[in-house]
Order: sequence, then structure tokens, then C-alpha cells
Amino acid sequence: MVFGLGRTSPRVTAPLSFATVANVRTIAPEERERLIAAPGFGTVFTDHMVTIKWTGDHGWHDPQVRPREPFTLDPATMVLHYAQTIFEGLKAYPAEDNLVTLFRPGENARRFNASARRLAMPELPEHLFIAAIEHLVRADADWMPSGGGSLYLRPFMFADETFLGVRPAHSYVFCVIASPAGSYFKGGECPITVWVSDRYSRAAVGGTGAAKCGGNYAGSLAAQAEASLHGCDQVVFLDAAHHRWVEELGGMNIFFVMSDGSIVTPPLGTILPGITRASIISLARADGMLIEEKRYAADEWERDAANGRLREVFVCGTAATIVPVGKVCSRAGKCLIGAGEAGPVTRDLRHRLLAIQRGEAEDRFGWRHPIQLESPQEARAERAGRCE
Ligand code: PLP
Ligand code: COI
Repeated sequence: MVFGLGRTSPRVTAPLSFATVANVRTIAPEERERLIAAPGFGTVFTDHMVTIKWTGDHGWHDPQVRPREPFTLDPATMVLHYAQTIFEGLKAYPAEDNLVTLFRPGENARRFNASARRLAMPELPEHLFIAAIEHLVRADADWMPSGGGSLYLRPFMFADETFLGVRPAHSYVFCVIASPAGSYFKGGECPITVWVSDRYSRAAVGGTGAAKCGGNYAGSLAAQAEASLHGCDQVVFLDAAHHRWVEELGGMNIFFVMSDGSIVTPPLGTILPGITRASIISLARADGMLIEEKRYAADEWERDAANGRLREVFVCGTAATIVPVGKVCSRAGKCLIGAGEAGPVTRDLRHRLLAIQRGEAEDRFGWRHPIQLESPQEARAERAGRCE
């Protein structure tokens, strides 16, 4: 993966300690229970957020766990004009007594810094990225939904300098917010319908496709709107040079299951290196399945679906988990995949991945990152505004 010059923060040498400013106006317990009973995705938020500032003079400083509240931004704040902003997405799952587990947060920390380098932003030391998330999970552990849900964590960073010249900003805010989450798609794990775009591209060689930056998502929205117009749930992007090779969706990676049991997924390069994608590859390979990271063309997809060589298609991501594709539409026409139903390989991989994430299966790859929650007494002290 080739990224541009980023900026490291050599000034962070000693561990920073997080100050806690408790939210005195937390949402009432009954209202919180109502909100987390069926949270859907991305609409319910917890009581706190974590922020850490960066400036050229002071590096990373002032880490805080504080009440979740709006930012005040000058109209000339650089991110509003030049989109220097990156983010991550990961989930915390309930575990046994007083424990919550994150899924592979170190991978998110590393990808966050790869995105930072590509967007010429400062890198955040991995231990600070993870500590920020742990602090927020501890502060808002009461927001963990039961019944198969999780707490979706959204770390992000943006340029907050007030300036209109075009150059990397001299100051940034890193922030983590949390959102109780159920299914990303309204239909839960039911097969989705995808639209293959022959008009728009998501990324080009040398561009920002492998970075998780806001601009990639802004650029995907017109294509996603076109997919919706055609009655589809999601858009599939093809490569920018030939409009032939399948890349990924607006917010998910994609896999193809063949009749001989082999699995194909597009190679890294211009796509986001998904952590779910990497986990599926490891899981399947450990069980002796053949997974090939290789180019697969939209016309091959159409032909293989028609001749029965293609048995299943599924998409994957942190928010979406693993979801089958039941129907594919394009200007050339429509076709069903596996009679429109979820296939056995998709169901099995989904089941096995979720079992590891939820702590129901052995963590043979060491992917789970446990967080010890505070005792109720400690939590009360925290809420009373203790500073560390
Ligand atoms: N591709 C894109 C464009 C995404 O936004 C996401 C979601 O984060 C993914 C793929 C899947 O990545 P991950 O599995 O790390 O969530
Ligand atoms: C995630 O899966 O975490 C993402 O950021 C993708 C987005 C579609 C919500």
C-alpha cells in the first residue's frame, strides 16, 4: 500500500492521562433502555465522547472523557473546505461479568494511521487510540444493547485550524463517539440487492481508495442514490480505468463463492483493507478453504451467475457484519444469486465470525481485546467528576 507523507508525533513520549468531565445531564435510565432496545444503526448515541487535541507545537495533548456535545467551528475551519478528515469503525461486544470485548482494535489503530499518512495528518500512537476507546466504553458501558447488539465505536479526526490556504492543517481534533447498534440493513441478515455502477468510480490508482477518509464516502453518494433509484440496497463499484473489475461497495468488501468451493475476493490496492475481510480470509484459510485475492470482472460475474459456477455472493464490514447478496442489477439486466437465498458458506462464515466476536467460540486467533469495566462504586466516582 503506498501512502503519502504523514506526520508523526514524536512529542508523545510519556503516557498521557485522560481527564474526566462527567456528563451531569445523562439520559435517564428508562429512556436509555428504550433507545437501546432496538437501536438500528447510527441514530442513538451515548452520553460521553473522548477528545484529544493535536497542534504542531504541542503534539497530542489534553485527552478528555467528556459529555457528548456539538463542536463549535469557525466557518473557515479547514475540514469544512478541504475535507481533511478520517475515521474508523469498530464494535464492542458484551462479555462475561464486568467485561466488554473489542474486536481487533489494533488493526483499526494501524489503519487509522495509514489513512492519516495518506491525508497528510498526524499519526496517533496506537496505545492512545486504544486507550481513548477503552475510556469511552467504560464511561458508557450502560449503553451496551442486549440481545445480540453491540456498541459501535466511531473514532475520527479532523482539521480544526481556521485558514483558507490549501495545505495540511496545523491543528486537529481526534474524537471517539459511541452508538448502540443493531443491524445495519433494515432486513437484518436477509439477502440484499446490489446495483453495479457503470457510471461512477469510487477510487483510482494513486488516489485515496485504501484510506478511510470522508471524501471517499461523499463521492459514493450519487452512485448510492442511483442504486436506490433502481430499487437496490447498495452500489458495487468497478475499477476506474476499465469499468470492468469488481472493487467493493460504498461501505463493504465483497466475496464470491464458486461451485468448486473456492472463494474469490478483489485484491487490495484501491479498496479499503477491511478488517472483516481479513478476518474472513484467515478463518476460511485456517479451515483449508481456498480463498483467492484476485481480480474478478463484472462480465464474469454475470456469466458465472447464469451458468451456475457462482453459488454465493456476500458483502462484509464492521457495521454490516456478513450479509448475503440475493440479487444483482445493472443496466444489462438482473439476476438472482443462489435463488435469492443465503447460501451455506455465507451462513457458516457469518456464524463463525459472530461467535468469535461475541465470545461464544474459542478465540483461536487472539482477536478479542477485553476491557475490564469498573465496579459500580468506581463508576459512581467517575460520574461524580473525578480526574485521573
Ligand atoms: N469498504 C469500505 C468502503 C468501508 O467503508 C468498510 C467499512 O468500514 C469496509 C470496506 C469494511 O471494513 P471493515 O471490515 O474494516 O469494517
Ligand atoms: C463500518 O462498517 O464501520 C463503516 O464505516 C461503514 C459504513 C457504511 C458505516
